[in-house]
Amino acid sequence: MTALTLTTSGAATLRADVIVVGVAKGPAGPVVAAGAEAVDKGFDGRLAAVLETLGATGAEGEVTKVPAPSGFKSPVVLAVGLGRLPEKGDAYGTETLRRAAGVAARSLSGTKKAGVALPVDAAEDVAAIGEGLLLGSYAFTVYRGGEKKAAGKAAAKDAGPKEPLGEAVLLGAKTRDKAHKAAADRAIALTEEINRARDLINTPSNDLTPAQFAAIATAAGKEHGIKVEVLDEKALAKGGYGGLIGVGQGSVNPPRLVRLSYTARGAKQSLAFVGKGITYDSGGISLKPAGHNETMKLDMSGAAAVLASVVTAARLGLKVNVTGWLALAENMPSGSATRPGDVLRMYSGKTVEVLNTDAEGRLVLADAISRAAEENPDAIVDVATLTGAMMLALGLRTFGIMANDDDLRTTLHELAGEAGEAAWPMPLPADLRKGLDSPIADIANMGERMGGGLVAGIFLREFVPEDTRWAHLDIAGPAFNEGAPFGYTPKGGTGSAIRTLVALAEHAAAGELD
Ligand code: BES
Ligand code: MN
Ligand code: ZN
Repeated sequence: MTALTLTTSGAATLRADVIVVGVAKGPAGPVVAAGAEAVDKGFDGRLAAVLETLGATGAEGEVTKVPAPSGFKSPVVLAVGLGRLPEKGDAYGTETLRRAAGVAARSLSGTKKAGVALPVDAAEDVAAIGEGLLLGSYAFTVYRGGEKKAAGKAAAKDAGPKEPLGEAVLLGAKTRDKAHKAAADRAIALTEEINRARDLINTPSNDLTPAQFAAIATAAGKEHGIKVEVLDEKALAKGGYGGLIGVGQGSVNPPRLVRLSYTARGAKQSLAFVGKGITYDSGGISLKPAGHNETMKLDMSGAAAVLASVVTAARLGLKVNVTGWLALAENMPSGSATRPGDVLRMYSGKTVEVLNTDAEGRLVLADAISRAAEENPDAIVDVATLTGAMMLALGLRTFGIMANDDDLRTTLHELAGEAGEAAWPMPLPADLRKGLDSPIADIANMGERMGGGLVAGIFLREFVPEDTRWAHLDIAGPAFNEGAPFGYTPKGGTGSAIRTLVALAEHAAAGELD
């Protein structure tokens, strides 16, 4: 991964391949942002004019390269667009900085070292720029350049796309400022875990079975002092986990339930994160049609987010107890698969009539939520690529938040916004419950088509004890980017919801979850 460091040296004296500056869209043309004063001085105060001549406007996503002024130790200046110039006296928003840093990092693949002279006002700007750089430089290269890789390491080097940016040096940050240093360290830990989650999501299902995922989680837990327990298919059957068994029984790759527990000395509050970990969702006997299954390796994005969040909490040493639950199964059709019409007896004891085997996420989550609730955490948050309906409702960049508690839902929405994740509160309308009535079981796994994302939330709520606070994040839209990269978001797995979960853990560590 790209290295991130802070320096006190100036833009003129830093020996790098490129200096990154910000340029905003002013009312009368591009305006060079704060942080780039030394660079602008090298241009005799004419950097904005030079950039304008080259066609730069300061629009978001725009990059313009110019040769550095003579006397500079770095040969190139890269100006990245920041969008509309803020009102006088206002700072740039953190998400603006995060995205611009991501755009810069993406356009600098193949480059060894960049000095970054974007505007830094407060420690939160250091965090945002650091996150943008380290998330934007992400590349998934495991399966690239196969022929050359087989031929040997040296040949593999020039195979496929360029290497990610090697090192980013933040110029505006203060190395002696503890808050700046802490912000950079936090950005490094957080983005390493987000990028780990992206790797997991991007890994094809033939190389990431439930057992393989559990092994990776076990190793990650060991590395960071997290206690890990794995229930295999035998333990699941014995324990009565009818949802996990029912979804996983059609596959030759059996299900797992992973429990990761991070405990901190002096912790006052506790959280449980539950992730949907369908390593491949074919739909099962209710098979998805062609065109709907090519990206279904993404269906473990919730579990990847939970793993990343628990590990980040541990790496940051947050004073909160966090338990992560990974509900892992592969949803496949076969002679041993659950049939539409079968009834499952869930971990909670409730029976579920499976009307559609493609509504499998709620089945594995229900078991994991019931199990998590036994430990009486202060709140349970589940994360899942649960419904196509949520994508229809909110689009591809916003996740839905449902909850049995208004405060928890509002808190999550606010924290998501501060972390730069687009999210929106969604209701759990009581009238949708009757659609889930089954003539033979306690509940069916499919209800009305209209409001399908909310119906799934209502199903899950049935497995949350009355006195337990619970929220559900449906990340089906933003978990995976099938389009072109933008900002700090690559193609493929994005690591959606991790920043929000980590922010919630920090919120609880501060004792603010009430
Ligand atoms: N994993 C899918 C939801 C999904 C679809 C996520 C596309 C990301 C992209 C989920 O298991 C599913 O198949 N849901 C069904 C539920 C329906 C059968 C009630 C859906 O949304 O169509
Ligand atoms: Mn499905
Ligand atoms: Zn699914």
